[in-house]
Amino acid sequence: MNIDGKAYRTIWVAEDGWSVKVIDQTRLPHELTILTLKTADDAAHAIKSMQVRGAPLIGATAAYGVCLALRTDASDEAVDKVIAMLAAQRPTAINLRWALEEMRDTVRNIPRDKRVAAAYERAAELCDDDVKVNTRIGQHGLKPILVAAEEKAQGEAVNILTHCNAGWLACVDRGTALAPIYEAHDRGIKVHVWVDETRPRNQGASLTAYELGAHGVPHTIIVDNAGGHLMQQGLVDLCIVGTDRVTTNGDVANKIGTYLKALAAKDNGVPFYVALPHSTIDWTLASGSDIPIEERSADEVLVMTGRTRDGKIVPVEIAAPGSPARNDAFDVTPARLVTGLITERGVSAASREGLLTLYPERAGEAK
Ligand code: MRU
Repeated sequence: MNIDGKAYRTIWVAEDGWSVKVIDQTRLPHELTILTLKTADDAAHAIKSMQVRGAPLIGATAAYGVCLALRTDASDEAVDKVIAMLAAQRPTAINLRWALEEMRDTVRNIPRDKRVAAAYERAAELCDDDVKVNTRIGQHGLKPILVAAEEKAQGEAVNILTHCNAGWLACVDRGTALAPIYEAHDRGIKVHVWVDETRPRNQGASLTAYELGAHGVPHTIIVDNAGGHLMQQGLVDLCIVGTDRVTTNGDVANKIGTYLKALAAKDNGVPFYVALPHSTIDWTLASGSDIPIEERSADEVLVMTGRTRDGKIVPVEIAAPGSPARNDAFDVTPARLVTGLITERGVSAASREGLLTLYPERAGEAK
């Protein structure tokens, strides 16, 4: 992604060759602040506090967290300990566990003095792979956009609704749900994106709108409750969202509020697509009801942070003092509401058969 003409990934190794740089997403869209992670605890804090967020990016950050830990202790015990610690930071996104298991497999059977170099090499591969996979998701996800474009009058944009942020900022580059949108825009197909603000943390308003704007993609921020109304008005041609975990029956966990959009889409005959890489499929779970749903601090509901007119970034309370709040961070959209899963291998039905058509090699382990 180019920001002010400079190409950025969301995570990279610093010039010193070992510390890790990330973009602090809690400061966006107001400031582009780069953080340096020097320890596994720094990586854990970045994941937990959502300085980095989005399923693929938390996996990539955790992978580098393992590298940082191994620099001080490369024993088997230390590897197990840091992996358990990092995996505990966010429970819903399966990419976190997937990336950590990749790291464990990488260092497990090699001598200790070779582990640090091997870990850095593997973490870099995971990041490069994310970019390649997302590029392919973009190419496959172009098809439903082209189908919608055929129905439009000459010069009319395809209106796509998205929820939360499943773009460049949620991944290493390019994104999942936003990848087909960038692909279409880059090929000259007219698109316009309805960006759900995505309370409580406003990833849509703060992050998706920021990166779409940086790439020049026309977009409009809407309140979370507007999507159903816009669909009734015929103003949404398709929805594309990301996901934190897909179970073998095609159920999809994603940012809280996704389910309501899928219900509204079904009621209005609007295609509802979910974009994901292979690392988001949990082959060990047969149904979305088994996915652990992260519950976050009530403060995220009760306090909003924004920039004042004089440029200060400040938190403000929005509720009556003493009112309690509940903050489930994700919900599960049943497979029956999903038109298709857009993956790096193509678009499939949201079902066991659909997933196994794309990933036949997983048949033996799929629950
Ligand atoms: O809590 P977040 O901001 O990490 O949630 C992110 C999402 O829900 C994304 O849609 C999901 O991780 C897919 S990212 C490509």
